[in-house]
Amino acid sequence: MSAKRVLMHIPDIIIAIDGYSSTGKSSFARLISEELGFLYLDSGALYRAVTLYAIENGIISPDGKIDLPALEKALDGLDVHFEDRGDGWKTYIGDRCVEKDIRSLEVSGKVSPIATVPQVRDYVDKRLREIGKRKRVVLDGRDIGTTVFPDAELKIFMTADLDVRAERRAAEMRARGEDVKTEDVMRNLQERDYIDSHREASPLAMATDAVTLDNSRMTLADQMEWIRNVIAEKFNLTDRD
Ligand code: DC
Repeated sequence: MSAKRVLMHIPDIIIAIDGYSSTGKSSFARLISEELGFLYLDSGALYRAVTLYAIENGIISPDGKIDLPALEKALDGLDVHFEDRGDGWKTYIGDRCVEKDIRSLEVSGKVSPIATVPQVRDYVDKRLREIGKRKRVVLDGRDIGTTVFPDAELKIFMTADLDVRAERRAAEMRARGEDVKTEDVMRNLQERDYIDSHREASPLAMATDAVTLDNSRMTLADQMEWIRNVIAEKFNLTDRD
């Protein structure tokens, strides 16, 4: 029986992937969505877009101080969304594609504090739940299985060693032409892990019914093989052809 064929019989479900920064959640979630024909939603991209907007409009200062009343006011009319203009689903602020700008180290350095603001979390959750209603979606983030979709049918919690994560993220950024030091990336990851896990509003936590995946020593192909088996077992899928 081929695990790949078995997946064609997957029911209409929501797959929630949570975990620490730079554990490869997005690449994994994207591949799963392609294999299953599901929609992929990168919740971190929405937090990053709000952060980019806040930086560009002086709502968060260079030293990280947030003007809360200004942020709340901005959220009222802010149009952050995903759109496919023929080149795949990308993140937009209004008419502007911000997919590249939201991945900078500057945004990475300010996104965790912005994501602690309850109004920002409500703003993002509302958008995710709206799209998630249709099912057949894979989402990745920090609180998808605990807060956004606590009833998700499949929850994965991803983790990997810090040095492995820092090396991977630094290599990714260098490939995009950014000149970064691995130690700076590592510091950013540690800071984000800490803020994400200790904030009051829906902190990063593993749902009690999540399955853990430590991919420190796994390739993406290994991870795909792993998820096929998890899905086949959980949903009792057998080859019916
Ligand atoms: O997955 P990412 O690194 O692009 O996420 C960026 C930040 O957004 C992360 O540091 C914490 C925040 N985030 C969150 O608080 N909740 C989510 N569901 C997704 C991201």
